[in-house]
Amino acid sequence: MNVLVTGGAGYIGSHTVLSLLENDCNVIVFDNLFNSNLESIKRVENLTGKSVHFIQGDIRDKSQLKSLFSQNNIDTVIHFAALKAVGESGQIPLAYYQNNVHGSVCLLEVMAEHNVHNFIFSSSATVYGEENDVPYVETMKLGTPSSPYGATKVMVERIMADTAASNPDFRGVSLRYFNPIGAHESGQIGESPKGIPNNLLPYVAQVMVGKREKLSVFGDDYPTKDGTCERDYLHVMDLAEGHVAAMNWLTRHPAFTGVEAFNLGTGNGVSVFEIVSAFELAVKKAIPYEVSPRRAGDLPAFWANAEKANKQLNWKATRTLQQMMEDTWRWQSANPNGYDKE
Ligand code: NAD
Ligand code: WQD
Repeated sequence: MNVLVTGGAGYIGSHTVLSLLENDCNVIVFDNLFNSNLESIKRVENLTGKSVHFIQGDIRDKSQLKSLFSQNNIDTVIHFAALKAVGESGQIPLAYYQNNVHGSVCLLEVMAEHNVHNFIFSSSATVYGEENDVPYVETMKLGTPSSPYGATKVMVERIMADTAASNPDFRGVSLRYFNPIGAHESGQIGESPKGIPNNLLPYVAQVMVGKREKLSVFGDDYPTKDGTCERDYLHVMDLAEGHVAAMNWLTRHPAFTGVEAFNLGTGNGVSVFEIVSAFELAVKKAIPYEVSPRRAGDLPAFWANAEKANKQLNWKATRTLQQMMEDTWRWQSANPNGYDKE
């Protein structure tokens, strides 16, 4: 199986590339390295003893994509490449629509020209918006996400549906991730955010390693079990294996055409304070934190109904919250600056 992984040098992409190699796939990574470092791919190669065909390029560059598809016999595309900072997407929305929506259209066009029809897309729980009750289930109507970033995910899902309606060969899978955290158990690859982390776990990890003074807990007056927001955190290796499961599902269903969406989550809501306690237990040290005002756009609580993926993909998130914390810490303490030298 020859798999093209766009954005494969990034956080989720690099862990997925590792899983794909372990499942005997040939992997081509296409990434512009805007938010990643080639070191992730080198480490994946070291960990697996297998090589990755890396091409530095941008999904909006159709001529480069065309030569890639002409020169390689690609069976399946796993499409991670996107900008992903929710707050930033409100400041530079056009860059997000350009990169995430236009980039996906370029990729789908070139795939169609080369008769490649298997497409696995990185979607997000954010597509359920504010309107839906929890837990989120795939049969719900998509909502209105609170950010341009979220809107790009809804738009690409719509583009996939329209592509399927017009192309009887198209085989799309939309994987709606909840909150991926953690790192490969080796501590060799993990999340390496540029600048100040936007997400909870990388921030906590940087506080613990002494790079940041203290964590700000964004609000403790939500209508939740302890007043802080609840999310469905899942281990990034479980998520990576979800992509292999989706690919295998496509293989097991040769007659399938259309688009199918799957939630990838654990099905459990975990609060910010529970994350703080679990991380403290993993590191055996207290985390300095203060409670600060709510962050605009945060929903109080959401988690997945993951039964569809459990049953149909034969996939389940199995790693525990404590493993997520321990693996995050193994990665962060061994690589305090991520993949950057200093
Ligand atoms: P990441 O930033 O680590 O990885 C994205 C990769 O895509 C990076 O390596 C970046 O350099 C590359 N890229 C961006 N624009 C590109 C372009 N135009 N051409 C080629 N390469 C490009 O992010 P991640 O956390 O690994 O997320 C991967 C995907 O999963 C994204 O689509 C993201 O929106 C989605 N997602 C992430 C989360 C999360 O919490 N991390 C949750 C839900 C969905
Ligand atoms: C988790 C919780 C914060 C930082 C975002 C995107 C979502 C998806 C995953 C891509 C929240 C709290 C955070 C901090 C805090 N990405 N927090 N202090 O907001 O659930 O989801 O990333 O698709 O689309 O919206 O994740 O990690 O930012 O926040 O208290 O310094 O931690 O308020 O309750 P979120 P997060």
